[in-house]
Amino acid sequence: MKTVVIPTGKPYEVLIGRGLIGRAGQEIARVHAPCRVCVVSDSRVSALYFFSLEAALKAAGFESRLFTFPEGEASKTLQTFGEAEAFLFASGLTRSDLVVTLGGGVAGDLGGFAAACYQRGIPFVQIPTSLLCAVDASVGGKTAVDLPGGKNMVGAFHQPILVLCDTAAFSTLDEKRWADGAAESVKHGLIRDTALFERMSSPLWREDVDSTVEMNLEVKKSFVCGDETDRGKRQLLNFGHTVGHAVESLSGFSLSHGQAVAIGMAAEMRAARRMGMSAAGENDVIPVLRSLGLPTECPFGYREVVEAALGDKKRAGNTITFAVLDRIGQARLEKTDLDTFAEYVRLGVE
Ligand SMILES: NC(=O)c1ccc[n+]([C@@H]2O[C@H](COP(=O)([O-])OP(=O)(O)OC[C@H]3O[C@@H](n4cnc5c(N)ncnc54)[C@H](O)[C@@H]3O)[C@@H](O)[C@H]2O)c1
Repeated sequence: MKTVVIPTGKPYEVLIGRGLIGRAGQEIARVHAPCRVCVVSDSRVSALYFFSLEAALKAAGFESRLFTFPEGEASKTLQTFGEAEAFLFASGLTRSDLVVTLGGGVAGDLGGFAAACYQRGIPFVQIPTSLLCAVDASVGGKTAVDLPGGKNMVGAFHQPILVLCDTAAFSTLDEKRWADGAAESVKHGLIRDTALFERMSSPLWREDVDSTVEMNLEVKKSFVCGDETDRGKRQLLNFGHTVGHAVESLSGFSLSHGQAVAIGMAAEMRAARRMGMSAAGENDVIPVLRSLGLPTECPFGYREVVEAALGDKKRAGNTITFAVLDRIGQARLEKTDLDTFAEYVRLGVE
């Protein structure tokens, strides 16, 4: 088993290994006394893993109940959030009780936000079961739901007290979901870790997925540490997401988050090369993304992408800040006016 410590205001551990769901009760008991637990999980993941999680929690003295919602991004709404809050209340949870999220980034973001708001904040544990959630969403404390047309528009920063990444759960992921996680992993390699970027072109990344998750979390940790609320260097993690979030919203979520980020990375690297902002270009990344089964062509025109991107949180008044690669393995932030940004997007998607 591997352990990564995330040194936020209140540090917490991420445990990475096979079989952690079956040991969840004893691991959680190390950081929180036995109590009432509400597990937040989608329809697919709860059918696969809630039974063993419930047994593990019970064996360690926790009493659990399940709040479940239909799988997919379409459930990451204020409505589901409201239903989750009502469920926590009806279950009699108090401030000394726990939320445990079990699933992908949707369960993690939604359940984490429910925990952040319930009685002004109760602790929560993340159990990521998708690769994307393990390498990215489960760590860093960003929790949120979407508004129609706007990703993650309502949310809070709320760090988990523990993250249990059971890599045996990846055995039930389909190929598309493996690819989604690979997209965020490529992003981490591009912005900080050339060895991780190179690893994503070798079968090793999946054969030894525990080490791949660990490498990703070391990258994520380096950006979150010292910038928990996303005011500075943490924004470098948005590389590929300026165009990516716009494309994801425009698709009505028929493109998954990982697919949208892959399209976003290719477009942003093309734009940065054409504008003379970067020594790296789209040809450095497109073959890698394609070999991982990810799309790289933007299916939308640049005007609609610009409009959607300007509705994103990355805009501040008449400027927008986005991440650009100096070269592979190193990124910086660019702040431009909106006309320059529109030209950047045009050069990226046309
Ligand atoms: N908070 C953050 O820092 C952060 C970072 C990146 C992404 N995100 C968010 O994460 C979400 C995307 O995450 P995701 O791709 O995990 O989405 P998801 O939670 O919808 O999971 C994708 C699909 O995989 C299924 N699934 C998950 N684990 C499984 C398993 N072990 N076996 C079988 N099926 C499984 C789910 O049921 C779902 O159908 C987006 O909403 C995105 O905005 C958040």
